[in-house]
Amino acid sequence: MKSRQRVKAHGEVFTPRHMVEQMLDLVHEDLEAGPDFVDKTFLEPAAGDGNFLIAILRRKLRAIKKQLPPESWPTESLFALASIYGIELLEDNHQDARAVMLADFHGFHQRHGTPCGPETDLHQAAAFLIATNIVRGNTLTSRTAAGEDIQFSWWHRVEGKPGEVQRDPFTLASLRDDGGFDFTVYNAYTACPIEKVHEQEKTDG
Ligand SMILES: C[S@@+](CC[C@H](N)C(=O)[O-])C[C@H]1O[C@@H](n2cnc3c(N)ncnc32)[C@H](O)[C@@H]1O
Repeated sequence: MKSRQRVKAHGEVFTPRHMVEQMLDLVHEDLEAGPDFVDKTFLEPAAGDGNFLIAILRRKLRAIKKQLPPESWPTESLFALASIYGIELLEDNHQDARAVMLADFHGFHQRHGTPCGPETDLHQAAAFLIATNIVRGNTLTSRTAAGEDIQFSWWHRVEGKPGEVQRDPFTLASLRDDGGFDFTVYNAYTACPIEKVHEQEKTDG
């Protein structure tokens, strides 16, 4: 708890680490063991300062290290980030959640000798994916603090082009509609290597 006032106003009580781990054990297969575990998506609708998000990322990175060849770790770690989504109402928690994800991602690569300084594509792509996937807003109304629709993106791998990603935006509100994902309201993005996703441009499509 940060303060009684915040508990009362926002229900802000953080889940202890051991409970987070117990809950993630329930989805062990999808998260870190089964086929395509890197791309299995997770959404934290009340992210707080990121304790579930970071635990999910750590497990995915650990599994990538265990199961995949080292040369694929930069790319796969970015696809892992692309699979983790969060929404948080409060500005400070939202900033903390984003910061802890980037710091952990950075730490993983530093420990394995992969350059990940602010000037690298790896860092910039990671920061971009985190900023795009972990948004500040109200899950119940599907709106940002500015009153706009919360927008997420689906990050597809491109068949036959390893390491490439195709971004498809959709609104959170569309997930609640019977029609499912709404991929039609925004222009499409051109496919690109995931390390360059921060430089990607929209097409007219
Ligand atoms: C109970 S805390 C839980 C944080 C984290 N999920 C955990 O289990 O430790 C709830 C968090 O949800 C946020 N929150 C409350 N109502 C929300 C809403 N309608 N949309 C998004 N976030 C919300 C609060 O600001 C707070 O950070």
